Amino acid sequence: MSINKLQTYKNLKVIVTGSTGFKGTWLCYWLHLLNAKVVGIALKPEKDSILFKKLLLSRKIKQIYLDINNLKKLNQVIKKEKPDIIFHLAAQSVVSESYANPIGTITTNVLGSANILEVVRINEIKNLVYITSDKCYLNDGRKTSYFENDTLGGEDLYSASKACAELVFESYHKSFLLKNKKLSYATTRAGNVIGGGDMKKNRIVPDVIKSLKNKTPLIIRSPNSTRPWQHVLEPISGYLKLGEMLMNRKLSSSIEPNWNFGPNTINCRTVIHVVKEVISCWGEEKKINIVKNKELKEAKLLMIANRKAKKELDWSPTLNFKETIKMTVEWYKNCFFENNAEETTRKQIEYFLRK
Ligand SMILES: NC(=O)c1ccc[n+]([C@@H]2O[C@H](COP(=O)([O-])OP(=O)(O)OC[C@H]3O[C@@H](n4cnc5c(N)ncnc54)[C@H](O)[C@@H]3O)[C@@H](O)[C@H]2O)c1
Repeated sequence: MSINKLQTYKNLKVIVTGSTGFKGTWLCYWLHLLNAKVVGIALKPEKDSILFKKLLLSRKIKQIYLDINNLKKLNQVIKKEKPDIIFHLAAQSVVSESYANPIGTITTNVLGSANILEVVRINEIKNLVYITSDKCYLNDGRKTSYFENDTLGGEDLYSASKACAELVFESYHKSFLLKNKKLSYATTRAGNVIGGGDMKKNRIVPDVIKSLKNKTPLIIRSPNSTRPWQHVLEPISGYLKLGEMLMNRKLSSSIEPNWNFGPNTINCRTVIHVVKEVISCWGEEKKINIVKNKELKEAKLLMIANRKAKKELDWSPTLNFKETIKMTVEWYKNCFFENNAEETTRKQIEYFLRK
């Protein structure tokens, strides 16, 4: 992907919800490099998070700490900022947390997302990229990939909340947005995203990295589950590309507004494969303890087809599996031991764009 293609964002007002989270931070930083005027909406960074602080984002973007469940305040912000485009990433993003906090998960992921749709409708914000998840599909046990028009559903509450967020989008789209030709909205579903700086609890790569750094025991659940792993720059580049196509009105109105940004099938590997590769890149011996958690219901196999984004957006995955893990581990090592997280982030974006 060439950086020139994303010059559309220069001087545009871009709102990113979830700007203090893992993917939101990478997106804001990339938009900052593109000279966009970025406004972030999110909760304060979590206690253990490092990315937002290490990238000095509070000095580079206008950050507003706001709960998206507060419709009145959200509306005030959107009305005042009048962005050219919104990327909606704010969410309760972890499956295990949805067992601990089901109502909080539903509230933010469904009602909070509905609030975003409502404020873009009221204020006639022209462009919206609405991020849900690969877990929004009803997992019927198939051994093949899920396509954009497959049935939605979810056994665990996180997956169900993302399927609901998709349904709410669809009804807003059909009830209001399609009637207003000035508006251009899309939903996106990416895979299991990894990359530098994620410190979220109960995510596999951050768990391995923390146990390597702190020399604490490494405990793994569901070692044989297969997931569509991808570097964070892959879906982020897809969101930016899609946003650009929406803003430039390059997509035919007959194209459905849902987009998968998954890796190629070869990147769909088991959890244990990823764990071993991370340990090998880190370069130290580590014992892996496997504990089965029977309470957590998660699909064993999950893959999403990326044919539509390849064809219609000319987007395709850039990094192979080994590069994905290598760049991820390199980021953490550079951050922890060389204290150059920002330089590493910029260099990794530049490297990605040269590929
Ligand atoms: N990380 C992945 O592997 C992955 C995979 C598929 C989809 N997703 C989706 O992508 C999006 C971003 O994921 P992430 O990994 O960056 O998540 P994250 O947990 O690192 O960040 C979540 C962000 O949302 C914000 N947020 C949460 N509740 C909020 C609220 N009530 N009001 C305002 N802001 C709120 C947080 O402050 C944070 O900025 C989420 O929608 C997630 O479900 C993530």
